[in-house]
Amino acid sequence: MKILVTGGTGYIGSHAAVELQKKGFEVIIVDDLSNSSIEVIGNITKITGIKLVFEKIDLSDRESTRAFFKQYPDIGSIIHFAAFKAVGESVEQPLRYYRNNLGSLMNILEGMEEQGIKDIVFSSSCTVYGQPDILPVTEDAPIKAAASPYGNTKQISEEMITDVTRVRDVHCVLLRYFNPIGAHESALIGELPLGVPNNLMPYITQTAIGKRDFLRVWGNDYQTPDGTPIRDYIHVVDLAKAHVIAVERMLAGKSEKKIEAFNLGTGIGYSVLDVIRSFEKTSGIKLAYKILKRRPGDIEKVWADTALANRDLGWKTERNLDDMTLSAWNWEKRLAGL
Ligand code: NAD
Ligand code: WQD
Repeated sequence: MKILVTGGTGYIGSHAAVELQKKGFEVIIVDDLSNSSIEVIGNITKITGIKLVFEKIDLSDRESTRAFFKQYPDIGSIIHFAAFKAVGESVEQPLRYYRNNLGSLMNILEGMEEQGIKDIVFSSSCTVYGQPDILPVTEDAPIKAAASPYGNTKQISEEMITDVTRVRDVHCVLLRYFNPIGAHESALIGELPLGVPNNLMPYITQTAIGKRDFLRVWGNDYQTPDGTPIRDYIHVVDLAKAHVIAVERMLAGKSEKKIEAFNLGTGIGYSVLDVIRSFEKTSGIKLAYKILKRRPGDIEKVWADTALANRDLGWKTERNLDDMTLSAWNWEKRLAGL
């Protein structure tokens, strides 16, 4: 069974490609390498010992996407990761984000229709919930007004796929990720932020390795036990495994509805200081950090109710915060050649 993994040289897609190959699926990766490197293909193969197909295509280009689907008429299912994901950048360049994230999805959905592909797993985000009124947040919590064009592309994408499933023989699993961090245990694949990272974990590891002077902790005056914001951090390998299960669920015809949404988190919330403490423990390094003012747009706290994913997908996270921070550190060290 051939699975198309769009954005498969990226952070989460590369880990999903590994898990798919481990389960015997044939993987076809399509990526335009706008936010990843071709070396990732070799590293996936190094981990699994299995070859895969790679095509460099910009999926927001309708004709190239159509030609790709014609060239590979036997794709069984799709996991659609390809998208731009920098929240701040999306505020500065909204049209670039709408064009890339929505255009690519439209081209994929069109390709599915032309080729009769029935199943798609879509990378969504907990950002669709904004600051939830009730915690832990369940999948039926209200979708809040998007705080950024990036977040809006996820909301519109969910709606677009829903509309298509209403009138076509298409099934979709929407996976709403919380905060993916960490790296594969081999340290051969991981997160590769271009430029200065916005996200917490790569900022921590880059500070520890000496690329950044200190971590800026964005505020400690929130209504949380230690004053810093709380998130549901999830190990990228646990996250990747859920994609394989979602693919298998749809292929086996086990979906209960044409479109299903699942939260992917651990169900446990940790503060920024918790993450720093875990990192210091697993790396043995004292992290330089300063408490600064709040970052505009940050929510106070969010963590997932994972009961639905646990029950319907039969999926549970297996890695804790220390596993996450240690694997992220091992990855950063490998990047530095240590
Ligand atoms: P990433 O940037 O590492 O991977 C995305 C990949 O898509 C990159 O390799 C990029 O080159 C590729 N890409 C982008 N536009 C493309 C296009 N038009 N055609 C072909 N390839 C294209 O990001 P990631 O962290 O692996 O995220 C994967 C998905 O998960 C994205 O949809 C993202 O929005 C979503 N998501 C990520 C997070 C997170 O914190 N990392 C959280 C929630 C949701
Ligand atoms: C985590 C915590 C920061 C950096 C973003 C997107 C969201 C989703 C995941 C895709 C927060 C604090 C961070 C730093 C800090 N992506 N922090 N200093 O903001 O929860 O979510 O990525 O869908 O849409 O908005 O993740 O890693 O940026 O921040 O103190 O240098 O770390 O304030 O509390 P966030 P993050």
